[in-house]
Amino acid sequence: MALQVVQISGERGDNFSYLVFCDRSRQAMIIDSSFAAEQLLAELEARQLELVMVANTHGHRDHTAGNDRVIGATGVPLAAHHADIPLAQIPLHNGQTLSLGDGQVEVLHTPGHSPGSVVFRTDDAIITGDTLFISRCGRADLPGGDVERLYHSLQKLMLLPDELTVFPGHDYGPTPTATLGQEKQTNPFLLCPDLDSFIALRMG
Ligand SMILES: [Fe+2]
Repeated sequence: MALQVVQISGERGDNFSYLVFCDRSRQAMIIDSSFAAEQLLAELEARQLELVMVANTHGHRDHTAGNDRVIGATGVPLAAHHADIPLAQIPLHNGQTLSLGDGQVEVLHTPGHSPGSVVFRTDDAIITGDTLFISRCGRADLPGGDVERLYHSLQKLMLLPDELTVFPGHDYGPTPTATLGQEKQTNPFLLCPDLDSFIALRMG
């Protein structure tokens, strides 16, 4: 059975946090604690889940804000790419597979919004942080950002199956989620025919 993904809005801002879990074993991971630490802890309790790690899509503060609270309450390790979070106990790298009960979560390194940005892929979903939003993509003009790397990271996502559900890091689109196929057809940043047009759109 595919892993379950629960999308959670924080107490402030427009960040999304995610709870990914295996129905049978009840093992769970949090992706981006953001401003939803209390909601995430309550969900773990209500669903009788065993948290095994907190992971971050990247190191920006609005995505890591709840880490200390959740890790302090549960004692689980932090998983992140070292380019963004050098002290993470579980360093993430491209192509890595994380086991979660009966399921697996694949790590895709997608630099560009930040050097250590990653996307997490389950059998039927991708959790995209600030790399890909519904109808938009992440900024490339923040410290450590690189518009050319972001373009190539988005092209990498274009190769994934249309059926995947996109779970973004912020609620910026007309809907909180969409299929990757819908985004391939409508997201102007994915429709750019080449790097130059992407740079013009993203940095213009
Ligand atoms: Fe960010």
